[in-house]
Amino acid sequence: MHGAHGYLFSQFLSPLANQRTDAWGGTPQKRRRFVLDLFRAVRAAVGTSTPVAIKLNSADFQRGGFGEEESLEVVRALAAEGLDLLEISGGTYTSAAMLGVDPSLKESTRRREAYFLAYAERVRAELPELPLMLTGGFRTVEGMVDAIASAAVDIVGLGRPLAVQPDFPADLLAGRADESVVSPRRSGIRVLDNLTELTYYSVQMWRMAAGKEPAPDRHAAINVGQYLLNNGLESLRMPQRSL
Ligand SMILES: Cc1cc2nc3c(=O)[nH]c(=O)nc-3n(C[C@H](O)[C@H](O)[C@H](O)COP(=O)(O)O)c2cc1C
Repeated sequence: MHGAHGYLFSQFLSPLANQRTDAWGGTPQKRRRFVLDLFRAVRAAVGTSTPVAIKLNSADFQRGGFGEEESLEVVRALAAEGLDLLEISGGTYTSAAMLGVDPSLKESTRRREAYFLAYAERVRAELPELPLMLTGGFRTVEGMVDAIASAAVDIVGLGRPLAVQPDFPADLLAGRADESVVSPRRSGIRVLDNLTELTYYSVQMWRMAAGKEPAPDRHAAINVGQYLLNNGLESLRMPQRSL
């Protein structure tokens, strides 16, 4: 279940997006009813032999939005329902913390490459039995080994490295690589950075889907141009539509 990044579950959970005054909004309990009811429905449909996992935001990184305390409450409630795996992420397309774009992530990320590790540790401390996956920021073998060896998480998730280096996990395991070559496509202007990050990696995935090699060294502007050609000007306003 995708409960992160501003998609539907995330919209119900967010006090900013969820302005409902009926049984589905108004209090944290009512805001999380949608995700809990859907979890129960999915579980009833698939039974207990099929694992049910959710990707959930630690926080939306928006003032007045879904935050860590409420996120922990959702995790507690889902764990009590028998959640099999929690994947931790954060941010929305307005404030793309999942891509490391949010400025508030800079300090913690300098010290430890994974963006949401501190939150993962909070969940682990409180719910040690719940299998945890963490995605966002992992680039080096040390960072990944550290997160697993310290028992903070059980599974490391990789996004952008795989859009440029699809063999990266095999290379890591074989000792052929110890760091991803991907580097941020940033200007420092948040709206532009959301766009350059998304277009850069989308174009790499399109290339591979067409049987071509990724082209990591092409200028960001060329990728934005190709993205707009493929998706139309509308995608500038709503880049998430094409994802
Ligand atoms: C082009 C692009 C498309 C993405 N699409 C999705 C998506 O459809 N669902 C999702 O959960 N995350 C999506 N993400 C976010 C990634 O899953 C991941 O959370 C994020 O890139 C951080 O991990 P990383 O630092 O390893 O890249 C996307 C990221 C990029 C760059």
